[in-house]
Formats: sequence, C-alpha cells, structure tokens
Amino acid sequence: KALPRVRQLTASLVQHLHDFARENELTVDEWMIGLELMNEAGRMSNDRRNEGQLLCDVLGLESLVDEITYKLAADAKDEPTATAILGPFWRQDAPAKQMGDTIVSGIESNDRTWMHGIVTDFRTGKPIEGAVLDVWHTAPNGLYEQQDPAQPDMNLRGRFTTGKDGKYNFYCLRPVPYPIPYDGPAGKVLQALDRHPYRPAHIHFILTAPGYKPIVTQIFDRKSKYLEDDAVFAVKESLIVDFKPSKDDPKADFELPYDFRMATF
Ligand code: DHB
Ligand code: FE
Repeated sequence: KALPRVRQLTASLVQHLHDFARENELTVDEWMIGLELMNEAGRMSNDRRNEGQLLCDVLGLESLVDEITYKLAADAKDEPTATAILGPFWRQDAPAKQMGDTIVSGIESNDRTWMHGIVTDFRTGKPIEGAVLDVWHTAPNGLYEQQDPAQPDMNLRGRFTTGKDGKYNFYCLRPVPYPIPYDGPAGKVLQALDRHPYRPAHIHFILTAPGYKPIVTQIFDRKSKYLEDDAVFAVKESLIVDFKPSKDDPKADFELPYDFRMATF
C-alpha cells in the first residue's frame, strides 16, 4: 500500500529537482553548496538539536505541510483549534503534573502566568475527559531547557490530564521572542537571504485525547514582536492570545484564559 505513494512522491520530487536545476542552470559548485548545507545539518543533529527540521522551517516547508495536513480554516469559530508546526524542541516524556502545578523551576520572573481553560468536543461543545495537554516553552533567556545547561532537566515542560469537567490550569511564564539557533545551516540560509532569525513569543502544545485527532499547536502573544514576520511562518490569527494582568493571585502576574476544541476521528 505504501509503495504507490512512495513512487509518486519520488517521481514528483525528481521532476521538481531536475526542473529546478534546469531552470536555474545550476552548476556543480552551487549544487555542492546545497549538499554541504544538508550534510552539515546532519552532522549537527542529535537528540537535543534537529537542524534538518530547522532548515526546512526557515524555508517554510513545515508550515506548508502543516497547512496541507490539517486543511483547517484558521479562524472560524466553529472549527477545532487550529494547528501549528511542532518545531524542533518538543521532547518525549515531559513530566506528568497535577492541575494547578507549575512548570517553572528556579527562575525569578515578573511574567508568571496562570493559564487555564477547558478542552471540548468542537461539535457537541461537551468537555473532554482524559485529554492530555503537553506544554513547553522557552526560559526568559530564549533557550529551551535542552539548549541550556543552566536549567534543570525538563524545565518549562509538563503534561496535564483533564478530569470529567475537561478543565485544565497550570502556572508557566509569559514567553519572550527569541532567535531560532542560527549558528548552523539554517542560520546561513537566513543570512544569505538577509532575514532575521526571530520567532514571536509563543507556547507550544500537543493535545491528545482518546477518540480525538491529536492537535499540535502553538499560541502567540498579541503584544509580541515578529507576529508578522515569524522566521518559520507559523503564526495563525486564531492562535493569537491576550495575556491579562492578574488580580488576586499572589503566584501570578498574568492570567491567560484559553480553550481548546478537538475533533473526533
Ligand atoms: C522552530 C520552532 C520553534 O518553536 C522554535 O522555538 C524554534 C524553531 C522551527 O520551527 O524551526
Ligand atoms: Fe518554540
């Protein structure tokens, strides 16, 4: 069953690669530069760094594939929550947490945020029990924990499972914009195109629930720079959120209400 699809994709890829070479009269030297970028990406990659993905991302490929895969209207109210790219920094087995826990460890901040909401079935509006919210974001220095020896393992990551009411809540930080790693091939491509490496402030999620389609997504701070020119093209209007000043919670500076809507298979 896989074979016809493999044939189709390979034939089409070869056709487009050949057309690309012919249309641009690609020389051996130029082809070698591209080849070396790919090889360098491979050499740099390990379980902490996915440079191949980064290279695809600055070229907009992961964003395009995300759009094609999910074919969702980005901002219709009666749609499931829009998807966004996974990016290279998700880690398997983030710590399981209880509702109301914090994912922040060892960081002083005036951007402490209480995020809360409900996970519902987008057709029935009913709460979903047993939905797992896998969340991750960067530290105020712009680094994910696996990029930063100063942070405890699995810092700013957590998995929360909803009960019968479908509700979730936890403490995190209001994220900041930061550059994607630009010391490798992805950075070379950005530099060659005179593009900046910044992403708008965002928080990542993977939502899973029994019987429902998983949702890989990110939410973006409306006040952040780079919403209009995200280095990896991931912003969608419906995923832009408003951080509100927190009133009576001594543990939070901001409050962030956000609901997720899932679709059955
Ligand atoms: C990319 C995505 C991210 O979420 C991030 O923090 C850095 C890079 C990316 O898609 O390459
Ligand atoms: Fe990210």
